Amino acid sequence: MTGSTTALSPSRRGLHVITWGCQMNVYDSARMSDVLRPLGYQSVDAPEAADMIILNTCHIRDKAAEKVFSELGRLRKIKEARKEEGAQTIIAVAGCVAQAEGQEILTRAPYVDIVLGPQTYHRLPEMVARAARAGGAVIDTDFPAEQKFDFLPDAAAPQTPGNYTAFLTIQEGCDKFCSFCVVPYTRGAESSRSVASVLAEARRMAESGVKEISLLGQNVNAYHGEGPDGTVWGLAQLANALATIPGLSRLRYTTSHPRDMDDALINAHRDLPALMPFLHLPVQSGSDRILRAMNRGHTADEYRDIVRRLRDVRPDLALSSDFIVGHPGETDEDFEATMQLVRDVTFAQAYSFKYSPRPGTPAAGAPLQVPEDVKDARLQALQALLRQQQDAFNAALVGQTIPVLFTGEGRKPGQIAGRSPWLQPVHVSGPRHLIGQELPVRITERLTNSLGGTLVEETVYA
Ligand code: SAH
Ligand code: SF4
Ligand code: F3S
Repeated sequence: MTGSTTALSPSRRGLHVITWGCQMNVYDSARMSDVLRPLGYQSVDAPEAADMIILNTCHIRDKAAEKVFSELGRLRKIKEARKEEGAQTIIAVAGCVAQAEGQEILTRAPYVDIVLGPQTYHRLPEMVARAARAGGAVIDTDFPAEQKFDFLPDAAAPQTPGNYTAFLTIQEGCDKFCSFCVVPYTRGAESSRSVASVLAEARRMAESGVKEISLLGQNVNAYHGEGPDGTVWGLAQLANALATIPGLSRLRYTTSHPRDMDDALINAHRDLPALMPFLHLPVQSGSDRILRAMNRGHTADEYRDIVRRLRDVRPDLALSSDFIVGHPGETDEDFEATMQLVRDVTFAQAYSFKYSPRPGTPAAGAPLQVPEDVKDARLQALQALLRQQQDAFNAALVGQTIPVLFTGEGRKPGQIAGRSPWLQPVHVSGPRHLIGQELPVRITERLTNSLGGTLVEETVYA
């Protein structure tokens, strides 16, 4: 890179962030923007207008690395076109592919300036300075001893003014080493933020108008943060403290692992009205044999039992889940056990995937890989059943009155839109000044991926 000294003058610079992957990446992208703001970087929509482009990547499935290289090819063209006009562009690759394949990225895409892993984005300003000074690529995929959260500026919350919902990462990494999964290798060991730092961020969010916070973590219910009293707090204790913050009326957490669904957390669903009655609890498979091969650490019946206990304390609780079909060794019988679990539990929503071998994970080298056409057929059958259950869940809401948190304008003029306790988008006719409020809505229709309704006390609000 050339022209390094002018590159860091504190004038306004354009920043374009491309985010793939999970909600933690969404959160990370926002925080990377926060750390770059003091350097003058401001978000721009078009990559062509950006002095810096960050590609925040995901490694979880499919041809993750190939997708990154093809996107980088596109960014390279933008960088070259800008260079012809005399403008510099810093390209940074962040996230889980950067962590897993950092060196490979620098070799195959030498026009990339910065490669950084998920645990080092607090060092981004320093990396930008180094890239500018040295004129060479900078790579930082350490798992540093310090916690990045202790070194980040306060999150600019809400990241966009007028946001009534926000993500807050409280836990990262994973020690569970499921047979199929790259996360323990890309995100590192489990670690939790302190209670004080989580509460401080949540309070700032609430003060700026956020009503609903989704707590994030790869294993969010394994949270074990240092409490203000010096003891270790679990998620239930943290949720209790968060529920006392004025203005915060809704709490969610994702993603949970069945093994960490303890009594305290189940009881929190009974005791805290702010905890939304919607839980994403991935099960992956309904076959004990496959669950064992996956190293999930629980049986299908143990999962059924957790769901039963949750519904005992919170009867309106609905579930969402993740499924993998075609894990090595999965037979027709194993797959049928998954279908049976779905029939028994019933899900309001779900994500299902074909098993995708990840280099370096135990399952990738396991014998009895399932042929692609078998995976396809199983995925189709599973998705048809899950779709049926989702439709039935949504249909059952028609005629009911439910609380909706309005978050913005609707698709059609005169409409406002919000989300139900179960995360469905809901549209109603109503005035804009109701945005930001949680109000009762009578659901009148079910659309493909959302619900339509009417404000219960329309005349009062109009
Ligand atoms: N921590 C969460 C999951 C994180 S990854 C948990 O333990 O449930 C999100 C989802 O991606 C997983 O639940 C799984 O269903 C899917 N997934 C992960 N690795 C995969 C792979 N190799 N092939 C297909 N799907 C995978
Ligand atoms: Fe991956 Fe398993 Fe950890 Fe979830 S619990 S992140 S699936 S290793
Ligand atoms: Fe993807 Fe990394 Fe998240 S692999 S799912 S971005 S933790």
